[in-house]
Amino acid sequence: MPSNMENGSLLKLNNIEVMYHRVILVLKGVSLQVPQGSVVALLGANGAGKSTTLKAISGLLRHEDGAVTDGSIEFLGQRIDKRSGEDAARMGIVQVIEGRRVFEHLSVEENLRVGGHLRGTNKRGLERVYAYFPRLAQIRARQAGLCSGGEQQMLVIGRALMAQPKLLLLDEPSLGLAPLMIKEIFEIITRLNQDEGLPILLVEQNAKLALRVASYAYVLENGRVVMDGQAEQLKENADIKEFYLGLTDVGTRKSFREVKHYKRRKRWLT
Ligand SMILES: Nc1ncnc2c1ncn2[C@@H]1O[C@H](COP(=O)(O)OP(=O)(O)OP(=O)(O)O)[C@@H](O)[C@H]1O
Ligand SMILES: [Mg+2]
Repeated sequence: MPSNMENGSLLKLNNIEVMYHRVILVLKGVSLQVPQGSVVALLGANGAGKSTTLKAISGLLRHEDGAVTDGSIEFLGQRIDKRSGEDAARMGIVQVIEGRRVFEHLSVEENLRVGGHLRGTNKRGLERVYAYFPRLAQIRARQAGLCSGGEQQMLVIGRALMAQPKLLLLDEPSLGLAPLMIKEIFEIITRLNQDEGLPILLVEQNAKLALRVASYAYVLENGRVVMDGQAEQLKENADIKEFYLGLTDVGTRKSFREVKHYKRRKRWLT
């Protein structure tokens, strides 16, 4: 359990099970917590169930004929696992989905205004986003579809901020971006958390990067949490190093469970 739990848990997943189309079981009992004001990372290989976990929290699962079939999700002490995405958004849960989906034919600024529609678009919201992302201010009139991958990633994060989230769910912000752009985006993510205390649940395949920003992390494999701990400790963990060093070479990557020094803890057996 994250050590700053005494601050109160903002989000709590209790042993959730998720199914798609009533038959495909993807999450097989996932428990995790995001304390107020913290960045928590959710790591794991392709297909582990990271995006599914985020969609279960944000209510977007429904749009893919998925559902939380067991366990519960609590946000600020309220059950939310049966709520719609619109309800979750109104409560302040905002997800930045994988793949940087911008409204291609709208300008950068129009994209941002769309993000603010639930809260009523306001000038202060735009100014705040432009303060974090000066690059977006420079290209505010540009058609979003013509922006670079990095600019589009900034745009979808900015659009999410316009909705004034109480919890930001970020799905693989580093994917496919150049190292310098990744560095810039992660610095902004860190500042958002440090300056405003914005709580973030960050999904990443890039463990090194994620463990630098997060205070606590969970490793997901095949729909189960196989390891969790303070980011500082996980960074030093030989298994994590070995497993994630293989990330550049997907073909030879081992299962986390097969890593040699993998120490099975009792509770993983349950
Ligand atoms: N809409 C869907 N219908 C059926 N199965 C799905 C659906 N979405 C995801 N899955 C399956 O659920 C499993 C987990 O997928 P998910 O997208 O959550 O993984 P992920 O950890 O985000 O992977 P990646 O790193 O590739 O994004 C996969 O086996 C995937 O095929
Ligand atoms: Mg994913």
